[in-house]
Amino acid sequence: MITPSPLPVRTATPSPRTSPATPVEAPLRDSKSAKATPAAKHVASKADSAPRMYATENDLSEKRRAELNLLLNQRLADAVDLQMQLKQAHWNVKGPSFIALHELFDQVAEAVESYVDMIAERIVQLGGVAEGTIRMAAGRTRLEEYPLAIGDGLAHVEAVARALSTFGREARATILQAGELDDADTADLCTEVSRGIDKWLWFVEAHSQASK
Ligand SMILES: [Fe+2]
Repeated sequence: MITPSPLPVRTATPSPRTSPATPVEAPLRDSKSAKATPAAKHVASKADSAPRMYATENDLSEKRRAELNLLLNQRLADAVDLQMQLKQAHWNVKGPSFIALHELFDQVAEAVESYVDMIAERIVQLGGVAEGTIRMAAGRTRLEEYPLAIGDGLAHVEAVARALSTFGREARATILQAGELDDADTADLCTEVSRGIDKWLWFVEAHSQASK
């Protein structure tokens, strides 16, 4: 068993079990839609230079597992951010639909918490390290900043719908990428997450579609 160095700062020396072909220097970028924020660049420079992998009997090659590790850690950052954005909406929503939206946003946050767990545990199953701290999420997330100055129910509906839509787009892209890496299980996991996100987007947008 390889003991990883303390995260997020990693050593430049590859793990003894890391083959030269392993893309250990690959930055955490997994789709063309990605926009690197200044914070993301900071985190990338500190933490994304050499993902450490544990030895495992899993038959996916280490090269593929390392690529999946990068992909899934990006989705983990998005999911952690999404969960807290849903809580932000749950706490601060106001207006005549308060109770419906307050409860719905909490329900979605709970579902997203389960997605966070699924993604993180898949990373570890593949020999990777789940980098699920708030600080890693803040640096890597693909989601827009959640507006802090809104209160009206419809404003929260729009902000939450945007966050769900962004997360759903990235999850869908990860289904295809996992398939290209011959990992049908990760593709299946992301399909389950994506299907759930689409359902929650429907629940949220139903509050605004009738008036459009
Ligand atoms: Fe609550």
